Amino acid sequence: MYASLLLLLLLLTNPVSPSSFPDRFTKSLPSSLHRHASQEYFELGQPLPFDRLTPSCSLRVLTHSFANTINGPPFSTPYSPPSGCSSSPPWSGWSHVALEFRAKCKGEQYDRIAGLWLGGAEILRTSTAEPTEDGIFWKVRKDITKYSSLLSRSGLNLTMMLENVVDCDYTGVYHVEVHFLFYDHFLSYDKNATVSPVRVSSIIPNQISAIVPDKPADLILPISDTGNKGSWFRIEGELDLHSKAIRIPRNARRVVVELYVSFHGNDEFWYSNPPDIYISTNHLTTGRGHGAYREVFVTVDGELVGSEVPFPVVFTGGINPLFWEPVVAIGAFDLPSYELELTPFLEKLLDGKPHSFGIGVTDAISYWLVDANLHIWLDHQSKTVQARRSFLPLPPAVRVKRRSQFKQLDGSFSIRAERSSEFVGWVLSSSGNFTTRVSQQYEFRNSISFANSGTYKLVKQKVRAKREVKVVDQMGAAVLRSKVKRRYPLNVITATLPGSRKDTYLLLTNLSHSLKEKGLHGRYSRRAFNRQDSRGWMEVKDHSVLLGSADTNQTFSCRDEYGCYSRTIVARYGSLTTDNSTFHCLSVS
Ligand SMILES: *[C@@H]1O[C@H](CO)[C@@H](O)[C@H](O)[C@H]1NC(C)=O
Ligand SMILES: *[C@@H]1O[C@H](CO)[C@@H](O)[C@H](O)[C@H]1NC(C)=O
Ligand SMILES: *[C@@H]1O[C@H](CO)[C@@H](O)[C@H](O)[C@H]1NC(C)=O
Ligand SMILES: *[C@@H]1O[C@H](CO)[C@@H](O)[C@H](O)[C@H]1NC(C)=O
Ligand SMILES: *[C@@H]1O[C@H](CO)[C@@H](O)[C@H](O)[C@H]1NC(C)=O
Ligand SMILES: *[C@@H]1O[C@H](CO)[C@@H](O)[C@H](O)[C@H]1NC(C)=O
Repeated sequence: MYASLLLLLLLLTNPVSPSSFPDRFTKSLPSSLHRHASQEYFELGQPLPFDRLTPSCSLRVLTHSFANTINGPPFSTPYSPPSGCSSSPPWSGWSHVALEFRAKCKGEQYDRIAGLWLGGAEILRTSTAEPTEDGIFWKVRKDITKYSSLLSRSGLNLTMMLENVVDCDYTGVYHVEVHFLFYDHFLSYDKNATVSPVRVSSIIPNQISAIVPDKPADLILPISDTGNKGSWFRIEGELDLHSKAIRIPRNARRVVVELYVSFHGNDEFWYSNPPDIYISTNHLTTGRGHGAYREVFVTVDGELVGSEVPFPVVFTGGINPLFWEPVVAIGAFDLPSYELELTPFLEKLLDGKPHSFGIGVTDAISYWLVDANLHIWLDHQSKTVQARRSFLPLPPAVRVKRRSQFKQLDGSFSIRAERSSEFVGWVLSSSGNFTTRVSQQYEFRNSISFANSGTYKLVKQKVRAKREVKVVDQMGAAVLRSKVKRRYPLNVITATLPGSRKDTYLLLTNLSHSLKEKGLHGRYSRRAFNRQDSRGWMEVKDHSVLLGSADTNQTFSCRDEYGCYSRTIVARYGSLTTDNSTFHCLSVS
């Protein structure tokens, strides 16, 4: 069917407008193409290791229907931790907390971005799946144990933002429920990956570090907006730095900033944006320019303290919405957040005065939604902590090289960027004098080519990032070493052809992307590999998909201290034709 259609297309000779930019669409397919009753959608990733345990408490914390919520304030509801669910210290009362987000929707609707904040600190960034006439539903489970200091507080507001438009064309209302599940068992495991649960109350304090790699922070302070348009900052351009003044307790001994980001409007497909000169020379009307390099950065009192090239999440209306049923793109239901170690900068933060924490996006165009959380560990034995930064001879530097070559609508553009940075500082707390060395490197490669009078577009991107944190004591002995390496390649092809009618066009789309991670944290190691390959075509009128077909293949596999998991699926025409999973460790990792 695919081949005969192509042949037919080649015989057609209408001129085609150069609209080969990855774009955002809704599905207006006749419901006869959807053979299912209400269908479950999902994001394929790692199950939570404590999924196999029974929670000791579960709490429904939010129920709301998001109809025509555009330009309205976020939905807010009071939160208090469950009573009778916490055991006594040393642990904060539970071993793990899972957030379970459930949503359903029916009708026609675009994908929408959503955020969930507890006490102003973001705990989930998610996007919605595009519904069908028969209805869809899905569930997202996320480990939110690291927000325990907030989860144990009473009188906070849980806030959710999901800007939706409901009118006679877009009928889908998103019905959302959020549950928090509290667990009271840690998982202990041996070399054979046999996991046995250990009750929180049976652990003695000095065993905790042996069982739990990371104790959650004592304090979480949001770098977020207080406006009534949601707690995220909206970045409209490259000079748009949003900041907040925050006072850090004088007994802070470790600080990590966690960044949440998503990209929308003319920067939704930032990795496929050509330089402005291509757009102006060809008199194109698209606002999707500024080249394809974006870096989200964090500043403290105007000084750059860390940055990240975000993983390019594709939302469910993106490129070809038929790819994303019933499996959504990597990260679409649980967007990754990025953690940057700020401990080497404690010297300037411990003076008891407010400091300005800023977030910006290099070369951004409208719009990005960003915010962050400061995770702070305190010295409970002391009122003040002393810290000093060591200044290194080489300041952090980024090198960006751009090449561009085009003739009318055809040509190619490439960008190579490299950043490497290193920060060192010591912290003297009641537990001793420890020096933290943070180093980060990344390589970014992007190339965009246009052919056939701009109707064929090929985007290739590769990001490789490496981050290492080393803590040594005063004798120079390593106390902790943690290392994360990530790679995320992306290839997208879009080819525009004439449609079967004057007011429609045909898009052939191919996409393949993956996320590979390798991490080491003390004696814990983790490897994960997630890859999707999608192929399809669609006939489009304006932004509505009238007809089409697609398939997506995905493989996920991981290996960590809890064991192994892998799953392979094939989705064709909106249903799973293969779904194979195993908890056995395969020889290839
Ligand atoms: C929670 O939200 C309500 C209503 O929006 C507001 O009046 C109250 O001040 C908020 N509470 C906190 C702790 O922010
Ligand atoms: C791992 O499995 C082997 C073979 O079944 C067994 O002999 C060994 O005792 C196990 N090790 C542990 C730590 O349970
Ligand atoms: C802490 O350790 C660093 C590195 O060994 C050293 O330079 C510094 O003087 C020490 N600080 C104090 C207060 O002893
Ligand atoms: C998509 O990939 C397939 C298989 O690799 C290839 O045959 C096809 O030509 C590609 N589509 C486009 C529009 O390049
Ligand atoms: C997905 O896998 C099937 C079966 O292995 C294969 O026939 C198909 O071409 C693959 N599709 C993509 C988009 O890679
Ligand atoms: C699932 O995996 C098993 C074992 O590798 C294989 O025999 C089987 O054919 C697979 N099933 C499908 C539907 O791919």
